[in-house]
Amino acid sequence: MAGVGSCLPSRVVSNDELATRLDTSDAWIRSRTGIEQRHFAAPGTATSDLAVGAGAKALKSSGEPTVDAVIVATTTPDRPCPATAPVVAARLGMTGTAAYDVSAVCTGFVYGLATAAGLILAEVADRVLVIGAETFSTLLDPDDRSTSVIFGDGAGAVVLRSGTGTEPGALGPFDLGSDGEGEALITVPAGGSRQRLSGVAPRPGEAYFAMSGKDVFRHAVRRMTGSAKAVLDRAGWNAGDVDHLVSHQANLRITHHVAEGIGLPRERCFNNIAEVGNTAAASIPLALDQAHTRGVLRPAQRVLLTAFGGGLTWGSTVLTWPQLDRS
Ligand code: UT7
Repeated sequence: MAGVGSCLPSRVVSNDELATRLDTSDAWIRSRTGIEQRHFAAPGTATSDLAVGAGAKALKSSGEPTVDAVIVATTTPDRPCPATAPVVAARLGMTGTAAYDVSAVCTGFVYGLATAAGLILAEVADRVLVIGAETFSTLLDPDDRSTSVIFGDGAGAVVLRSGTGTEPGALGPFDLGSDGEGEALITVPAGGSRQRLSGVAPRPGEAYFAMSGKDVFRHAVRRMTGSAKAVLDRAGWNAGDVDHLVSHQANLRITHHVAEGIGLPRERCFNNIAEVGNTAAASIPLALDQAHTRGVLRPAQRVLLTAFGGGLTWGSTVLTWPQLDRS
C-alpha cells in the first residue's frame, strides 16, 4: 500500500436533525449504533464525484500521478450502466487505463483490494488505485428509521504497487467468502432483472434499501470474527501481533463483539463511525485515511482489516502500515 486519501461531502446530518422527521432519538442512535452524525451528499453530487476526490488524494499521497488500473467498489454507482470506474479514471487524467467496478456491498473494498493484488501478482498492473465510494443516502427510504439513521456518504482510496512481502505496506493474505442464501437480508428489491423497472412502477418501498437489522447483526459478528481469525492464521499472526483492527464501520457494538471474538482489546479498534456512520464500501478506506491523518496508524504497525456486507459477503486481510506523508 503506497498511498491513501478520502473525501466526505460537506453536509453533516446530526442525529437530532433525523429525529425531527423520524420517530427516533439521539440517545437511541448513539446507544444502539455508536453513530453521532453522518455526511450526506447534496442532490447533484454523485458517487464518482466523491470517488474522484478520494482518488486524487490517494494518488498525491503515493507520489504517482497515474496507475495501471482503477477499481471502484460501490453499491451506489452513478448509473446502472456503465460502471463508475471508467469515468473516475478519465476525470483523474487516466483515459485509456483499465477501470472497472466491484460490487460486494460493504465488503466491496476488501474484494477490490484482493482483485488489485491479483492484477499486480499476475503482472497485469504494477500500480492500482482502489476506491470505495458511496452515496448511500440515495438508496435510503426516508421513512425507514431502521436504515436512515445508520448510513452515510463518503469515499476512501488507496494506491497499491508491486513490492516485497517484507517491506512496510505489504498486504495480504486474504480471506473472502459469501453466502447467497442470505440474499434477502440486505437488499434493494427493485431495479434489476428480477424486479424490473422498465415501464413498471416499483412496488412501494421496493426501490429502497432494506435490511433485517437483527439477523444481519448476528451474521456480521460471526462472519467478521471467523474471517479475521482465518486471515490471521494464514498470515501467521496472533491476535497480540495486531496493533489496529480497522473493521467495516457497521455498528460500534458489532466491532466490539468482533474484537472480543478475536481476543483483541477494544482500544486496538480504530472507530470513526461516530462521525461518519456506516459508509458501506467506503468505510474501511475512509477509516484508514482518518487513522493515518490523525497519527493513529504509524509506519510498520500491523493492521487487520475485516468487512461484512450484503450478498451476504465477507472478507479480511492484513497489512503493515507504510511510511506515508501526512498532509
Ligand atoms: O453494513 C452492512 C451490515 N449492516 C449491519 O451490520 C447492521 C447490523 N444491524 C444493526 O446494526 C442493528 O440491528 C440496528 C442498528 C439496525 C438495529 O439495532 P437493534 O439493537 O438490533 O434494534 P432492533 O432492530 O432489535 O430494534 C429494537 C427496537 C424495536 O422496537 P421494539 O420492537 O422493541 O418496540 C425497533 O422498532 O428499537 C426500535 N428501533 C428504533 N427506535 C428508535 C429500530 N430503529 C430505531 C430507531 N430509533 N432508529
